[in-house]
Amino acid sequence: MTTRFIILTLAVLAICLTIFGQIVPQKDPNYDENNVPKFDLPDPLTTFSGKKIKKSSEWIEERRPELLTFFSENVYGKVPCKIPIYQWKVVEQSGNALDGKACRKQVDLIFKKDNHTLRFNILMYLPNEAEKAPVFLGYNFYGNHTITNDTNILISDAWTRNDKSLGIDNHRLTEDSRGVRANRWPVEKIIDSGYGLATIFYCEVDPDRDDFSDGIHPFCYIEGQQCPASDEWGSISAWAWGLSRAMDYFEQDNDVDASKVIVFGHSRLGKTALWAGAQDERFSAVISNNSGCGGAALSKRRFGETIARINAAFPHWFCKNFRKYNDNEVALPVDQHELIALIAPRPVYVASAEKDLWADPRGEFLAAYFATPVYELFGKDGIPSQEMPPVNQPIHNTVAYHIRTGEHDVTDFDWEQYIKWADKQLLKK
Ligand code: GCU
Repeated sequence: MTTRFIILTLAVLAICLTIFGQIVPQKDPNYDENNVPKFDLPDPLTTFSGKKIKKSSEWIEERRPELLTFFSENVYGKVPCKIPIYQWKVVEQSGNALDGKACRKQVDLIFKKDNHTLRFNILMYLPNEAEKAPVFLGYNFYGNHTITNDTNILISDAWTRNDKSLGIDNHRLTEDSRGVRANRWPVEKIIDSGYGLATIFYCEVDPDRDDFSDGIHPFCYIEGQQCPASDEWGSISAWAWGLSRAMDYFEQDNDVDASKVIVFGHSRLGKTALWAGAQDERFSAVISNNSGCGGAALSKRRFGETIARINAAFPHWFCKNFRKYNDNEVALPVDQHELIALIAPRPVYVASAEKDLWADPRGEFLAAYFATPVYELFGKDGIPSQEMPPVNQPIHNTVAYHIRTGEHDVTDFDWEQYIKWADKQLLKK
């Protein structure tokens, strides 16, 4: 009797908690291809009202705007107000960086509105050889000074995630972490290939924590507002906003070829690069490195990280409306292949790592494949077959893809591919 009562009580409790969306599914993440549910993938070339898109002009005028609005209001959240650069300042500069090969600039972008002020710093290395350089732009995870051992790089005072293995404690950056991420940023190789590199510490735009009182969000609050409304920006959208402001600056910097800015990002910052590239057509190419759930991977596959899991672990990344799709991917009228398609006809590169199952490499590949019909509408080449290429054998078409051996990371192999592909797609080398 007592056992039955306990079981009954637990069952009722579980049902209530599930209904009110209070619990994360208890099952382990699925890593078995046989357990991927059957799903219908929305056709990027059919509008929400059922019209077939046959010409690139129809895509541009009808389908692209409705998809962009959907992602904006239901996935990442819209930016509720305009915040232009108030002022920019070159805070440090040298024409003699990297043994004279490059110019280094550290430029603060400053934003002001009412009683709010925010500044973030762009660290740039530009090849001295070029008059106006094409540039890779990407956020870094732990501060500009972590990307090389160059002692001239200023240390950010923004809030930082702790990581003792990287010498980061008390949420503050110090000398201890200088150069600790140099392995992910082959600055010299980039410069020797004729490209510039620009990077920003993402927590300067919005600290990566579930707190909407800091970073750029408060700039758009109406009186009494404490956090973004359900369709307004989460952190990914805020970080994407920051990349567009960097682009505003590049348009005024004579050393940068603003028509050739390639926006790059790894993992959460790969999700950010895709969303920035989807919205802002000034980015001439986009690279997603191991971006996974909410990035390049198809959500409806429910492989590895799912929408419910990401919203539970990182409640501040997406807009609140995205929670409607927690364990309810069936109801989602879009999927991430359409995010990639929003970049068309500009080149986009999706990269996976073999051991990075959490990010669902196959789901990332399929999203690139299913974005291809939109590229073909523009006469561009995408991913030719539904069969994944073998590891370390990249496809360098306008829609590019590789899966490399190894873990969730950014490696020299990744960068070598990005440079080769950018040479082909942007410089026509
Ligand atoms: C977590 C998160 C991923 C994200 C990754 C990262 O693993 O679940 O979605 O891509 O962090 O940004 O490193």
